[in-house]
Amino acid sequence: YGEYDLVVVSNRLPVDHTIDEDGQGVWRRSPGGLVTALAPVMAKTEGAWVGWPGVPDEEVEPFDHDNMHLVPVALSADDVELYYEGFSNATLWPLYHDVTAAPEFHRTWWECYKTVNRRFAEATAEIAAEGATIWVQDYQLQLVPKLLREARPDLRIGFFNHIPFPPLEIFAQLPWRRQVIDGLLGADLLGFQRPSDTSNFLRCVRRFSGFNVRQQQVQVENSDGGVRLCRAGAFPISIDVEHISELAHRPDVIARSEQIRHELGDPDTVLLGVDRLDYTKGIGHRIKAYGELLEDGKVDVENAVLIQVASPSRERVESYRLLREEIEGAVGRINGTFDTLENTAIRYLHHSYPVEEMVALYLAADVMLVTALRDGMNLVAKEYVASRKEVDGALVLSEFAGAADQLKQAILVNPHDIDGLKEAIVRAVNMPPAEATRRMRAMRRQILQNDVEHWSRAFLKALEQAGTHD
Ligand code: G6P
Repeated sequence: YGEYDLVVVSNRLPVDHTIDEDGQGVWRRSPGGLVTALAPVMAKTEGAWVGWPGVPDEEVEPFDHDNMHLVPVALSADDVELYYEGFSNATLWPLYHDVTAAPEFHRTWWECYKTVNRRFAEATAEIAAEGATIWVQDYQLQLVPKLLREARPDLRIGFFNHIPFPPLEIFAQLPWRRQVIDGLLGADLLGFQRPSDTSNFLRCVRRFSGFNVRQQQVQVENSDGGVRLCRAGAFPISIDVEHISELAHRPDVIARSEQIRHELGDPDTVLLGVDRLDYTKGIGHRIKAYGELLEDGKVDVENAVLIQVASPSRERVESYRLLREEIEGAVGRINGTFDTLENTAIRYLHHSYPVEEMVALYLAADVMLVTALRDGMNLVAKEYVASRKEVDGALVLSEFAGAADQLKQAILVNPHDIDGLKEAIVRAVNMPPAEATRRMRAMRRQILQNDVEHWSRAFLKALEQAGTHD
């Protein structure tokens, strides 16, 4: 047995091994909400984190970083193509996000998904202390709970799905639906973002496993005839509110936010979108609505600007390549039509930025646009709210993002309804300050009471009480 009492397992480590301009290997923060949420929690515990360092064929020894013990799992170029880009991001990702892109089903991808899941389970089993708590993360590793339980029945195993769990009618398309459900049911506790994800999952369990489901517990029958309980529940994830709020109060961050507005020509209204460049985020819908508002004369380039940060993501996957072309084409057409020599309609940035710069952008933005077609949670919406220390600013939020359950005072939209989206943007731009403050105060209260530590504590406590361990 190993020495760690708490082990987090996720596809990616919180840092990526990248090569900088001088050809030197450096560790950079990994993209996405999972790392945003978990890194601050893990930095405060003694646990270990098992994951991939983000580049193919990289054999790295375990090392310490930012108070965390990181245990790299190597993926070959083939693993990256079949398990990560293929099964995880061209099968499961679109399937679990309401088929916003068409999922592809390939048997070779599935075979590789199984192999890599086994490798993660083995690496975890090796370092876990007797009776340790293991917390497996996200859709890339759904077979790990069962594989781990077979190797190490002494462990307490939790799993959290950061992305939505799809309705039965969609999940049913997956040729390996039964194996995926079985893999997950190896856990003592399964956490989802929304109550609807939990009920979707439990319906799939009833249909595809044959096990009894009572309330939120599955009675899993072991091969020896014994019965084990697997609990499922909603645990909406959040952000490190204190850290974001500290940054929002830092003089250099505030100065930077003023500089951003100034460099944009001090417009009346700065609108902001921040997303990984992903087809689930509804970036195209947002840009279409904004282009029509320019055309209708409801906003104009002298008084308003939309900043769209689209951080590079999964660039070798075909649907992401196509999306990039589509978005950049749309931005180019709108800017070509409406720009003047002084003013640009949409400032499009295909970059990722450090958190300090993000908070400066949140401070600079009067209106935040989150228009995801489907999103497990969306932490950008929560970061915006946490940054607005002056208790102002308007949030337009898709009802298809998990965050809509908590941020009820946002202007909620159906991003497919372009007219409705346009109306919401106009409302946000023209919102009376008193109304903006009233809404923002309520949202800030919600976020302050439910930060990411609250989330991890609630999950780990439920995990302690779950299962048949005493
Ligand atoms: C989402 C997923 C994470 C993933 C992140 C970034 O937040 O839930 O599991 O790590 O996107 O995507 P990537 O494919 O770059 O890891």
